[in-house]
Amino acid sequence: MRAMQISSEHPLLLRIVDDLAERGWSQQNIFLPADLTRALAAECRKREAEGELAPAGVGRGPFSEVREGIRGDHIQWIDPGQAEASDRYLNLMDSLREALNRGLFLGLEDFECHFALYPPGAFYRKHVDRFRDDDRRMVSAVIYLNDGWLPEDGGQLRMYLEGDRVHDVQPTGGCLVVFLSGEVPHEVLPAQRERLSLTGWFRRRGNEPF
Ligand code: OGA
Ligand code: MN
Repeated sequence: MRAMQISSEHPLLLRIVDDLAERGWSQQNIFLPADLTRALAAECRKREAEGELAPAGVGRGPFSEVREGIRGDHIQWIDPGQAEASDRYLNLMDSLREALNRGLFLGLEDFECHFALYPPGAFYRKHVDRFRDDDRRMVSAVIYLNDGWLPEDGGQLRMYLEGDRVHDVQPTGGCLVVFLSGEVPHEVLPAQRERLSLTGWFRRRGNEPF
């Protein structure tokens, strides 16, 4: 099958843009077609079985270190051309990138993303996605790849919103959460079962010296 291409004016994408403009985050419970969610979950499990997922680090570049007391997920970065499913997802995110640029003038230039697998008991402590030494990350996008998630399975994404409010998202397959990377502190609560997701960031150009 050809890589899926959707218009950057698709109503679902425009709704996400509007949500971000109004309140800084958006949740779309039925974003991915079920076949793509399944294919991405299979791809994530295949990479895990082949030993390609590695404990995620905290921080950026040479200062990145694995600290299981902060985050316990295993990740692998996704590149174009690795698998049909991940290419379809990258195409969708490119349409969303165009929609965000058109609606919010963010000047987003690229999208980086990785599979993440949280083994039972793993969590990710409260944080923001923008690094102190690298502020290119503007918008975070997380898609969940789990069948039949129950509240007692834990593993919710907890977002800390304005006015001391929190909002929890069940990591149910096909659900997409998008938020402004520098403005929404969030955490992943301990998961009682294996939790799969695909997390990515839309970035603007860095301030290179020349
Ligand atoms: C992250 C993150 C959230 C999630 O990887 O930075 O916050 O729900 N992930 O997987
Ligand atoms: Mn995060």
